[in-house]
Amino acid sequence: MEKKEQLYEGKAKKVFATEDPELLIVQYKDDATAFNGLKKGTIAGKGVINNQMSNRLMQLLERRGVPTHFVRELSQRETLVKKVQIVPLEVIIRNISAGSFAKRYGVEEGIVFDEPTIEYSYKNDALGDPLLNARHALALKLVTKEELATIEALSFQVNDLLKEFWAGCGVTLVDFKMEFGRLSDGTIVLADEISPDTCRLWDSETKEKLDKDRFRRDLGGVEEAYAEIMRRLEEHLK
Ligand code: TMP
Ligand code: ASP
Repeated sequence: MEKKEQLYEGKAKKVFATEDPELLIVQYKDDATAFNGLKKGTIAGKGVINNQMSNRLMQLLERRGVPTHFVRELSQRETLVKKVQIVPLEVIIRNISAGSFAKRYGVEEGIVFDEPTIEYSYKNDALGDPLLNARHALALKLVTKEELATIEALSFQVNDLLKEFWAGCGVTLVDFKMEFGRLSDGTIVLADEISPDTCRLWDSETKEKLDKDRFRRDLGGVEEAYAEIMRRLEEHLK
C-alpha cells in the first residue's frame, strides 16, 4: 500500500491518504511534547517503539474482541489503519493515583484504587483539553448516548486486558489515555495509539517509571526506559 498525500501532522505522528478511501497510513515520529506542546524534544527511536508496541497491543485486544483501527504494520514506523472520524474525547482510565489526578485532588502518587476511574477531556488544543463529564460531552454533542456507553464499556474492557498483559511483563498499568473513532458505518473502534507516550507504566517491583513521565519530568534515562518496556513486551510475547 502506497502513501499518497499527507492529510495531517500531529505532535507525534503524520497521517497519509492511500488509494483506498477507507484506509490511512500513520507514520510515527521521534518528536515528543508535553504540557500541550510547551515542552518539546525528541526521544531517539520512540517512533519505532510506539508503532510496534501499539500494534502488538491492538492485535492482542482485537483477539480478545475489542474492535480497533489496526490493519497491518507496513514498516518500523508505518502502519495501515482504518480511516475513522475521531471522537474528540480523550478517555483516561486510572488504576492508581498519579499525574493530574494526584495534583488536582491533593493526594500522593501510588494510591491503588479499589475500582478503576474513568474521565474524559475535550480534545481541543486551543482550550488545553479541558476535563469534562459524560453529560458535558452529550451537551456539546461530541458523542451520542449510545456511543458513550460503548466507549465506556470498551475502555474498562481494555483496562482489564492491558492490566493483565502488563502484569505478566512485571509492569503495573497505572493509567492510560485512549481515543476512539467512528468507521464510515458508525462502528466505534479504538484508534490512535497505546504506547509509553499514552500510558503510565511502572516496574511492579521497584515502581521505576518506564514511560513518558521520564521526559515530562526530566528524570533522565528516557530512551532506556522506552527500550526496556519494549524489551519486556517482546520477551512476554515470545
Ligand atoms: P494525566 O495524569 O496527566 O492526566 O495523564 C493521564 C494519562 O494520560 C497518562 O497515562 C498520560 C496520558 N496522557 C496522554 O496520553 N496525553 C495527554 O495529553 C495527557 C495530558 C495525558
Ligand atoms: N502530548 C501532550 C502534549 O504535547 C501531553 C503529554 O503527553 O503530556 O501536550
